[in-house]
Amino acid sequence: MVREVLVYPNKILKQKSEPVTEFNEELHTLLDDMYDTMVAKNGVGLAAIQIGVPKRVLVINIPIEEQDGAQPKENTIEVINPELIECNGKTKYQEGCLSVPGYYEDVERFADVKFRYYDRYGNVHETKTDDFLAIAIQHEYDHLEGKLFIERLSILKRKKFEKEWKKRQKKK
Ligand code: CO
Repeated sequence: MVREVLVYPNKILKQKSEPVTEFNEELHTLLDDMYDTMVAKNGVGLAAIQIGVPKRVLVINIPIEEQDGAQPKENTIEVINPELIECNGKTKYQEGCLSVPGYYEDVERFADVKFRYYDRYGNVHETKTDDFLAIAIQHEYDHLEGKLFIERLSILKRKKFEKEWKKRQKKK
């Protein structure tokens, strides 16, 4: 089921999410809804807090370029209670967010990330990545801590963003 995505400056997005303790039906429904919502809104990642659920749950699905950006469900990485265990190097990437729709800006992130997480059945996994997934996991992890990518911009860029955002809200 597609759920409503909370948009900046909704205060719920600033809430810190709590770890998942039960890998049950409720969690599976949440994950399924998160996938439906992410794909419906053309996102590559979504954190549970973005649909108002303060749990440490993320979904990431990197579109397949060769297949017109398809995002088959079986390609979804379901990330529960993630821990970033090793972060190295630096990279910059133009990020966007379903909670800050229509705004894109360069953000500096670690280039290499090793992270540990649980899947929907409670099995533990470890992944090391230095490609787009590394950016995505850091962006989504920030959501669990109540942080949006616009909070990682320089003061100048942030001011510019706030101005643009206010202007846009008025137009609505
Ligand atoms: Co986001």
